[in-house]
Amino acid sequence: MNLIHSLIGRRRFLLTSLTSIATLGLGRKAAPFSHGSAGASEKHGTAGGRPLKGIVLYYSATGSTGKIAGAIHRGMKSVFQCDVAPLKKIDPVETAGYDVVAIGGPIWYYRETANLRLFINRMPLMTGKPCILFCTHGTQPSSFFNSLYQPLIKKAFNVIGWNDWYGGASHVLHMPSPYVTDGHPDEIDLQEAEAFGKEMAERARRIYAGEKDLIPDIPSGPDADPLWLKGGMDLMDIDMSVLGAEMEGGMPGPGSGVEDGGPGGMMNYADEIPKIDMTKCIYPRCTACADNCVEGAIDFSRLTPAALVSGSSILVEGCIHCQQPMCERACVYDAITYRQMKTKHVYDMTKCTYPKCTLCIDNCPMDSIDFSQPEKPVVHNNCEGCDLCWCICPEDAISIPNIDETHALLANSETSWDSPFLANLNRAEKTGRFRRIVPIDKVGWGNLVYKNPNAPRVILHEGDYPYEVTD
Ligand SMILES: Cc1cc2nc3c(=O)[nH]c(=O)nc-3n(C[C@H](O)[C@H](O)[C@H](O)COP(=O)(O)O)c2cc1C
Repeated sequence: MNLIHSLIGRRRFLLTSLTSIATLGLGRKAAPFSHGSAGASEKHGTAGGRPLKGIVLYYSATGSTGKIAGAIHRGMKSVFQCDVAPLKKIDPVETAGYDVVAIGGPIWYYRETANLRLFINRMPLMTGKPCILFCTHGTQPSSFFNSLYQPLIKKAFNVIGWNDWYGGASHVLHMPSPYVTDGHPDEIDLQEAEAFGKEMAERARRIYAGEKDLIPDIPSGPDADPLWLKGGMDLMDIDMSVLGAEMEGGMPGPGSGVEDGGPGGMMNYADEIPKIDMTKCIYPRCTACADNCVEGAIDFSRLTPAALVSGSSILVEGCIHCQQPMCERACVYDAITYRQMKTKHVYDMTKCTYPKCTLCIDNCPMDSIDFSQPEKPVVHNNCEGCDLCWCICPEDAISIPNIDETHALLANSETSWDSPFLANLNRAEKTGRFRRIVPIDKVGWGNLVYKNPNAPRVILHEGDYPYEVTD
């Protein structure tokens, strides 16, 4: 069975079963409260004798996840005191002061954004505290929940529930504009998210009150594979032949004669390994790459004097050469490079109005942009390649020299409702999972974001630096 569908199916089953358990109680009695009558603490819950306090943490580039986070927050705070904050506005260590944590972000490249994962890894131990996960996406949640489960378990969280919503895709470069999921999250989604937040807060309260079996099992075995790509593209039910002759045998890459890939040459993923430059690496002071590798494929105990420069010996078998790998994105010392289909950003400082405008710096999820020497602007290797900076620059000061090489193939495969990449969405609509708001003839099949000559390509809401929830 298709892994994605099996995961979604299983998750829906879990949520439905848990909803029933939570709603009906299934004959279980909540542990008695210290006061017999319905006092404030009984209604709102306690942890260690004081009232429960929750927080909703989120990353949102263009507001979809932010809106969902706001609605979840409304639901949670109807049960107990609850704060809400974008990741950039809170230090991970501050989460120690909360009893319940909801955390979410958009899907990028079939999984969580790197800043979300790094944030979780920088959190203190949250022994036994309930955690709720949520995401928004333009097609499907892919491996978001399974990929984040491990780092959350390492923090000793109890993951008590998860959910996903569709969001608009205004800044995905190879997508049509308007896109098929634009308009989401709408009022119906937000009501659902609020109800979800309330249900999860109730569940957390009951777990604190002593009910143990409200904690769901996460899929294990092959279903828990953190990167669905590992199993091959067939898992997404994509007929690769439809993508055209150009993609046969793989994506453009080394040997193509085109820097960073391009038509004319094919990349064999098996030949690609991350390059680790030990002269830049500051191990043992930082082990972020090893901590964030979803496959545990980086092992510093194998570091030998001979490997002090190349670093190749610390890569153990198991590196699956994932798309936009976490090791590279986690490394803020530019010690890891990986050849991939990532866009290159070039800054024209004659157009840029820095320091008057700092939009790209403020919104970069990975803080990769460094204008400390404005005459020599730097984009660090940990850039995720999300291209938000290019989309929002009001001065058209950023150019992407390899934009066609990185996006034309993908665009070719996503510009019709029957295209292989949109097949999942098409199917989801037929099964009722996806509710389309933009009529099919209004989807901008011929209007691709990366072809848009106007700057800015995406306008963020006023005051959204980064996107902030107001309720
Ligand atoms: C760089 C990038 C990569 C993306 N990759 C995926 C993906 O693999 N699967 C998917 O369903 N949506 C993908 N999306 C769409 C986003 O998940 C979707 O637009 C999301 O709702 C945006 O949330 P935000 O407005 O909170 O930033 C991607 C978007 C960007 C910008």
